[in-house]
Amino acid sequence: MPQTLAVECFEHGVRLITLQRPQALNALTTELLAELASALAEAEADPDARAVVLTGSARAFAAGADIKEMAERDLVGILNDPRQASWHAITRFSKPLIAAVNGFALGGGCELAMHADIIIAGEDARFGQPEINLGIMPGAGGTQRLLRAVGKSMAMQMVLGGESIDARHALRAGLVSEVTQPEYTVERALQLATLIAGKAPLAVRLAKEALLKAMDTDLATGLRFERQAFTLLAGTRDRDEGIRAFQDKRPAHFSGQ
Ligand code: HXC
Repeated sequence: MPQTLAVECFEHGVRLITLQRPQALNALTTELLAELASALAEAEADPDARAVVLTGSARAFAAGADIKEMAERDLVGILNDPRQASWHAITRFSKPLIAAVNGFALGGGCELAMHADIIIAGEDARFGQPEINLGIMPGAGGTQRLLRAVGKSMAMQMVLGGESIDARHALRAGLVSEVTQPEYTVERALQLATLIAGKAPLAVRLAKEALLKAMDTDLATGLRFERQAFTLLAGTRDRDEGIRAFQDKRPAHFSGQ
């Protein structure tokens, strides 16, 4: 049984993972990251799991790496940091991952939200990379993913100045795709997860992979990948089903084949 998070399974293959370290605003310990990586690995391995929502509490999605734990690690400790393996596992998750963010998403918490494919934010959410205030810098993708999401000037301002931005600002900057009333953030994310879970799983997986490729490749390579993925889908039963259902004027029922 995980100690730092809860996993709930809903209809239509949707899972909700809720971080649960309220005493430390869901600060990311080695244990929490390992439990999150393992919950995602379970969802990855289960063909019935089609989309995952990740959330925290009303006060904090996650306030960053656990500073108390970080203080105990020296240079060699950080070089051998077991959390790296967990971050890699989270990065590798191939199914749709939606972050439902209320309250603080700071440092590693903001980086964790940016590992999600879609971020839905409550009005009261705050995003920031305050590591500079601790004499360090982001270390779980913050300099790379934030710049790609919000552009150079805003990313520099947030990382070098350590100031956080609110949900509306994050929406304008492109870091999040929707802002909701805080009490509806999780509900809206679950709704979106259910919508995506009803699509053809192989098409969703390859479309996610193609979109992520756009973040780290040149246009020609990305377009080649897209074309190959598009062609691969021509061999799936779900493509036949999708086209037939359109012609029959009925909803499609995708099997993942
Ligand atoms: C450990 C934390 C924590 C953190 C909060 N807490 N953030 N513990 N690690 N990152 C704990 C506090 O110590 C406190 O516990 C309790 O949570 C409540 O926090 P308060 O500070 O009392 O709440 P509040 O006044 O509302 O302020 C909220 C806050 C502040 C603005 C979010 O807690 C804060 O600035 N936290 C640190 C944010 C940060 O710097 N994050 C980046 C970390 S570095 P006690 O027991 O004292 O009451 C990082 C690097 C990532 O993330 C690298 C990845 C490889």
